[in-house]
Amino acid sequence: MAEILAVGEALERALALLQSGDVVAIPTETVYGLAGDATNGIGVARIFEAKGRPRFNPLIAHVADMAMAERIALFDPLSKKLARAFWPGPLTLVLPQRPGNGIHPLVTAGLDTIALRMPRGFGGDLIARLGRPLAAPSANSSGKISATTAQAVAADLGARIKLVVDGGATPVGLESTIVKAEGARLRLLRPGGIAAEEIEAAIGMELLRGGAAGVEAPGMLASHYAPGAAMRLNAGTVNKGEALLGFGSQRAEGWRHAAAFLNLSETGDLREAASNLFAYMQDLDRSGVRTIAVEPVPFDGLGEAINDRLSRAAAPRDNTQPAT
Ligand code: TXA
Ligand code: MG
Repeated sequence: MAEILAVGEALERALALLQSGDVVAIPTETVYGLAGDATNGIGVARIFEAKGRPRFNPLIAHVADMAMAERIALFDPLSKKLARAFWPGPLTLVLPQRPGNGIHPLVTAGLDTIALRMPRGFGGDLIARLGRPLAAPSANSSGKISATTAQAVAADLGARIKLVVDGGATPVGLESTIVKAEGARLRLLRPGGIAAEEIEAAIGMELLRGGAAGVEAPGMLASHYAPGAAMRLNAGTVNKGEALLGFGSQRAEGWRHAAAFLNLSETGDLREAASNLFAYMQDLDRSGVRTIAVEPVPFDGLGEAINDRLSRAAAPRDNTQPAT
């Protein structure tokens, strides 16, 4: 069972866990978050594993200060105004990533935008001490409501994580409001702890609402962020000219002739495979092949999310098919 430590005595233990690539449940002003080092792929994979998420939704990267935020993302004037007005606080800004920012691609599910938030209190102190951003979704298992007390986190995730930092009941009790920069406008992606009217008053203009195709969050389109190459799943053989994305020690027939080959995990470790997935798909795509053959990946644990992502990448490319 997870250890529960009060905020006053948890900092060193939380730091040690994060530095070793492990996860920690922390209080924020909105809801409890399940945090991992956003630059460490194994740490980020552990977040999805502990939550039992069936897919890799992009996560919010939490920062300690504006300097850290600007090393990660490119701010337009309106977003900067909102950051100045509401950070630290329950506002998340979706912005273009700054290239080379060191954020692991599993945090953003391979997107070129990133959701950023500066939390109040313990989370901010922890991030400042770590010196790196923390990826953190709400600290609840997939499909359950967000936890607002350390006891609720422990009851839900206690068997799967080592530490819950107890900061008492979270003052806001609702997730952060998410706003996305879109040209010279801002779009409300998720209502939350800061009222849309407050944001509109701060920028002096109305927020856009609803997605272009009624889509609020990414990952909701079947072929979202598909690579340029076609993907052929559960491949038992490699055809001429194909690249091969492997898993484990069993090789598809003809693998030696693959135009390019990367193995998600030699040892068949799904956590390692998850942390390599987005980068390897991009690398094989860049090799210029028309098709990437993918060896079977088992469906247990993180395998479900890996297979979900692979099948989205393999879906028809008109980008209008809703996810099922
Ligand atoms: O208050 C909160 O926001 C809490 C605390 C822990 O910070 N976190 C939270 O995270 O609610 P989560 O993972 O449960 O929700 C994050 C939302 C998801 O709906 C996700 O799709 C969206 O943020 N998101 C993340 N990155 C995005 C991006 N690049 N573009 C659009 N939406 C994004
Ligand atoms: Mg959530």
